[in-house]
Amino acid sequence: MTDFKTKYGPWTLVAGASEGLGAAFAEALASRGLNLILIARTQDKLETLAQHLSNLYAVETTAYSLDLADFKAVKTFISQHKETIGLLVYNAAYSPIGYFETMTEERLEQIVDVNIKTPLLLTKLLSTEMIKKRQGGIVLMSSLAGTQGSPKIATYAASKAFNAILAEGLWNELRKHGIDVLASCAGAISTPGYKNAQSAKEAPGTLSAKKVAESTLNSLGKGPTIIPGLTNKLAHFFMNRIFPRKWAISIMDKNTKDLS
Ligand SMILES: NC(=O)c1ccc[n+]([C@@H]2O[C@H](COP(=O)([O-])OP(=O)(O)OC[C@H]3O[C@@H](n4cnc5c(N)ncnc54)[C@H](OP(=O)(O)O)[C@@H]3O)[C@@H](O)[C@H]2O)c1
Repeated sequence: MTDFKTKYGPWTLVAGASEGLGAAFAEALASRGLNLILIARTQDKLETLAQHLSNLYAVETTAYSLDLADFKAVKTFISQHKETIGLLVYNAAYSPIGYFETMTEERLEQIVDVNIKTPLLLTKLLSTEMIKKRQGGIVLMSSLAGTQGSPKIATYAASKAFNAILAEGLWNELRKHGIDVLASCAGAISTPGYKNAQSAKEAPGTLSAKKVAESTLNSLGKGPTIIPGLTNKLAHFFMNRIFPRKWAISIMDKNTKDLS
């Protein structure tokens, strides 16, 4: 834990921290002794979480209401923050459900802004400082949905593929500067966002947010990608190595058709 704090501290930025997996990341990081900058849109949830974690783990916490679709606002915020950010956890995502023909241009743009543009540019911004210091870490949340075409969430899934491939490339490029980059390709996680979307019962292999956050952070510095959970690792192996591509997409179609 001390090593983790020395390597990735003193401050970590969790983007999309108000609930679900982001809140679990915040707690896992506080328990490792890192100070927290928590970002999401819902200020009251962020403040409650920040207060709770600083009481429980004796770390410094700050909570900022920001729309991560607005990279200009994010950049201004970062430029005003004088503390060293040693770790970025980009967890936020916009994941509207529906067939492509029903998706408005606005929703598609929002996916690109929240899930692609801001994590990319934030990674650029923060890694520039990390390179100067020759240490740091970047975690980009991806998804097993992004490892093949996924009907009804096609654009979201493609945005998650972007994050996974970006993280893999940067894992190789940035490690010579002492920076660890990791994509976490999660299967189903029992979060408020997932529960809202899932009308049927939980998918096999569904994990708690705590388990995903812990196994992701434990994998930082050990390779470019983590798939939390054995069932998810097996599912990924079959979907991407054994089954023909058409089968994998059809299986995803069956899994996503009840999402709403
Ligand atoms: N849940 C799953 O089954 C699952 C599976 C695979 C991968 N993942 C990935 O894991 C991550 C977290 O999933 P989750 O289910 O915990 O998501 P979630 O319940 O939808 O929570 C997302 C977090 O991001 C924040 N957020 C969303 N849009 C934002 C915006 N425009 N600006 C600022 N903050 C924003 C939300 O807070 P506010 O609403 O307060 O802004 C919330 O704190 C995502 O990247 C997702 O793709 C999830």
